[in-house]
Amino acid sequence: MATIIDGRALAATIKKELKVEVAALREKVGRVPTLAVVLVGDDPASQIYVRNKEKTCEEVGIASIGIRKPASTSQEELEEIVKNLNEQEDVDGILVQLPLPRHLNAQRIINLINPSKDVDGFHPVNMGKVVLGLFDEGLMPCTPYGVMKIFEAYGIELQGKNAVMVGHSNIVGKPLANMMINKNATVSVCHVYTRDLKSYTLNADILCVATGVPHLIKADMVKEGAVVIDIGISRVNGKIVGDVDFDNVKEKVQAITPVPGGVGPMTIAMLMYNTVKAFKLREGL
Ligand code: GUN
Repeated sequence: MATIIDGRALAATIKKELKVEVAALREKVGRVPTLAVVLVGDDPASQIYVRNKEKTCEEVGIASIGIRKPASTSQEELEEIVKNLNEQEDVDGILVQLPLPRHLNAQRIINLINPSKDVDGFHPVNMGKVVLGLFDEGLMPCTPYGVMKIFEAYGIELQGKNAVMVGHSNIVGKPLANMMINKNATVSVCHVYTRDLKSYTLNADILCVATGVPHLIKADMVKEGAVVIDIGISRVNGKIVGDVDFDNVKEKVQAITPVPGGVGPMTIAMLMYNTVKAFKLREGL
């Protein structure tokens, strides 16, 4: 019987610990960590994600500043918003929800965020720290960081294992592949141009999938006894599904994350963790 990894429970534990820490920081410093969340446009999924992030801030005791701008916002206006947030002493974390409307250049916006306030961990400086394995001094991207926390909490050893990352996005695939390399796994990165994907996935002791293609990974593509981490989320006929055919794959693996309730809740927990970390680094704590 496969272990069904409970990301909700693990995230709840992390949030509970952070809540205690934030209360202590409030006493010590006289203010609480503060996260600015910028949402441009009215993408329905982004609206839900942003609302969840703000709700979780409240749960943990982190202050949040919501900045909503219309889809017509210009590159210059958005850059001005980021620059102002960089300068505000009482803002510890800045998050610009992605994707941005097509006329905006997201990388140029990310590059402008002060790396010490970049709680998404998307700035090139923080990405560089991911590659170098400098966990302590940087802010790590939340989703891959959440996956690494799952490995840690469930005693899943990476050293010497064959790890396969399906998906090579800047947000998940590239940083997670690097984090697994830093734990001495042998990592293959597959993506939409990979020929014979199955020949790679069948060899995976650890299989991480982040493509956004519903049920891409079928049972015959997975090695017996593997650990499967599903980082995809799609809506199919009104139902939320992952990139893995969970019902069939779970029969042959050692452990698997469900969707929803697997990696998703960990992303938000790690965003809270990063906001508290940014606060502490900025306060010299
Ligand atoms: N869009 C999808 N995932 C993320 C994320 O982790 N951070 C931001 N800012 N936007 C996203």
